[in-house]
Amino acid sequence: MKSFKGRDIIDINDFSKEELLFILKTAKKFDPAFVKKDRSNYTLAQGKIAAVLFFEQSTRTEQSFRSAAQKIGMGIIGFNDPESTSIHKGESFSDTIRIMDSYADVLIIRHPRAGAAKEAADVAQIPVINAGDGPNQHPTQTMLDLYTMMKEAGPAPDGARAGKLDGITVALMGDLKYGRTVHALSIALSHFNVKQIFISHPSLAMPDEYLKILKEKKREFKVWDKLPEDLKGVDFLYQTRVQKERFINLSQYKKIKDKFILDASFKEYLDKGVKLMHPLPRVNEMDSSLDAHPNAIYFQQARNGLYIREALLSLVLGRL
Ligand code: CP
Repeated sequence: MKSFKGRDIIDINDFSKEELLFILKTAKKFDPAFVKKDRSNYTLAQGKIAAVLFFEQSTRTEQSFRSAAQKIGMGIIGFNDPESTSIHKGESFSDTIRIMDSYADVLIIRHPRAGAAKEAADVAQIPVINAGDGPNQHPTQTMLDLYTMMKEAGPAPDGARAGKLDGITVALMGDLKYGRTVHALSIALSHFNVKQIFISHPSLAMPDEYLKILKEKKREFKVWDKLPEDLKGVDFLYQTRVQKERFINLSQYKKIKDKFILDASFKEYLDKGVKLMHPLPRVNEMDSSLDAHPNAIYFQQARNGLYIREALLSLVLGRL
């Protein structure tokens, strides 16, 4: 396993199964569900500075990185409105990165352009964490998704599976063609003995390149064009938004958009033990009446991002 100290976190493909498991194990050190006593991490990275550079809007990723950095004692600089910086005067992306590189110990970047985080890592001397680069990658989201599944996996009939990814069944639903979260999650889950089910309209099906990876690794998967009446054996349903902005033909969007909305009747599936996840933000694809159900775990999922990000910051700074 490569050392995490000084390492960039750009692409989920850069991490082996062993490294992913190590990150998940490290996140447990920050999670009150596993650490009962006072965590006292407020001095772990004291004196270090995180530069939070958000060129695109965010709620969860930006605020959880800010919270994580402060919880381990870091100071924070940065921006979430590039127009308030000298970019407004025409300063280039790479000059902006060079400048922030000299003021901080780690750069956390969200950008609408695919490849922007890698470009920043090529310029910066300090570690760069990709907080989402357009349609491309959002590796810390994938890590928190894995962490949530590991944490929430219930026991198998033989009682041996609780807290493990191997042996679970995950259904990914909604916009499987364009969604970066489902692509990266499918790749990450392919490291494990996980059965994957892809549920979408045929025009939004999982691209072949991801199915090819599963075939090569001899992982079990199924492709469905609608939510069946029974989700027997499915541990997690990972719902995603159908991305209206990607459709050239809006009448096609209107035709299929409501087929993948989970309304109040989905409670029946939750009652049977299916756990419902979503990277959020949601628009209308999950009815808020489901929120109170103990198997609707999307808000816990977002909270788990805090522990993953505390772990990653500590690791890349060499403090763990
Ligand atoms: N899941 C996620 O990345 O949410 P934000 O866009 O609010 O950060």
